[in-house]
Amino acid sequence: MSTSAQIGVTGLAVMGRNLARNFARNGYTVAVHNRTVARTNALMEEFGHEGEFVATETAKEFVAALERPRRLMIMVKAGEPTDTVIQEFAPLLEPGDMIIDGGNAHFADTRRRERALREQGIHFVGTGVSGGEEGALHGPSIMPGGSKESYESLGPMLEKISAKANDGAPCVTHVGPDGAGHFVKMVHNGIEYADMQLIGEAYQLLRDVAGYSPAQIADIFRTWNTGRLDSYLIEITAEVLSHVDAATGKPFVDIVEDRAEQKGTGRWTVQIALDLGVPVSGIAEAVFARSLSGHADLRAASRGLAGPKATQLGEAAAFADRVEQALYASKIVSYTQGFHEITAGSTEYDWNIDLGAVASIWRGGCIIRAAFLDRIRAAYDARPDLPSLLSDETFAQEIAAAQDDWREVLVAATRQGVPTPGFSAALAYYDALRAERLPAALTQGQRDFFGAHTYRRTDREGSFHTLWGGDRSEVEA
Ligand code: 6PG
Repeated sequence: MSTSAQIGVTGLAVMGRNLARNFARNGYTVAVHNRTVARTNALMEEFGHEGEFVATETAKEFVAALERPRRLMIMVKAGEPTDTVIQEFAPLLEPGDMIIDGGNAHFADTRRRERALREQGIHFVGTGVSGGEEGALHGPSIMPGGSKESYESLGPMLEKISAKANDGAPCVTHVGPDGAGHFVKMVHNGIEYADMQLIGEAYQLLRDVAGYSPAQIADIFRTWNTGRLDSYLIEITAEVLSHVDAATGKPFVDIVEDRAEQKGTGRWTVQIALDLGVPVSGIAEAVFARSLSGHADLRAASRGLAGPKATQLGEAAAFADRVEQALYASKIVSYTQGFHEITAGSTEYDWNIDLGAVASIWRGGCIIRAAFLDRIRAAYDARPDLPSLLSDETFAQEIAAAQDDWREVLVAATRQGVPTPGFSAALAYYDALRAERLPAALTQGQRDFFGAHTYRRTDREGSFHTLWGGDRSEVEA
């Protein structure tokens, strides 16, 4: 067997298979391997003509087919299956070789694996890959972590197979050491959840408050997609909403059970944000909304609860314009929260993540790709230390212009009893950030009252406690 393959892919389910094809279509020789050989054979039969593949059956054969330093990409399920594959291949590798994990791994697992393999001199490259099966084949957004050295060897290949943004820039960058790539992919997915939830709320408002049909709403989304909301998720929303179920002739969206599932990356984003102390309320509401939708019994038991009296809505088209404002403003808030989490993770783990570069590689290929990411990139490029996206003048001005409509939409939603957790959480975040004073001062007073937890004063340094049970004098703690 020749040792000619520049990269190897093991795990040939749809994502692995399509990534292998993408490498081959871009002129690389790709060794392919799968636990059950049938998948390898199927790939060779169907797509073997697309480029140079080296089909291998055993782990040894697979490793032997790779040029050195070896680049071995594993595309298996996150969790235990990934550890199993690493344990199978690591003993066959040599210092300088690279294992690239392109699955949706938890970044803490990636950190653990990177540390263990580093002792063997092997580079472990935890890599976020976004774009679904189409992206894997035609150009995903790629978020590799790991050592600089591994990126020097791997980067040019990833750049070649990645999506390209409108200005031609490849949608891949070396995100940072160890788990940085998978962390950023996790936040990408958290933002994806928030985007989808906000779009869902906009849809429901247009339907239940403004009275539009799914087909009409599809047209509204198509129009929005030509403006500042231009994005993949808005585009596919129009497709889904205009689809008619062949069996019943009903709108497809009406025959699908309204219980959203999840594989867990959105939940991780929230769990980690809680640990880091980062308020990602919009993302959290999106995760909770999916979870609420799945509580069929609870929902059935609650259906008889009282709702508001029906009220008259003004002109539907004007309301739709307001919903666009609310959606856009809330979207800015979701990204603000997501980027805040990346900043916090980067500080906590010393990753030195370039936020402008992250925005840049999300401009193409990935699920949250959107025209406005180019403006986020520009904002961070101009000011890498931007405290928050909301501190960027352009975004601040846009929200200022949108806020009256945003508030009106929430008033209408509240009046009509349409749940808008995403829109509402986003506005509450915005209002809380800009507030001169927050009731946190009262919280501190309560904590001091019942637990002597102390507080800080606005007028001098130090920690203080009031003798609540005594003469209420203040002592320095
Ligand atoms: C991507 C997607 C991808 C996957 C999600 C779905 O970036 O290509 O995010 O990773 O579609 O994990 O997530 P849920 O099943 O949790 O909705």
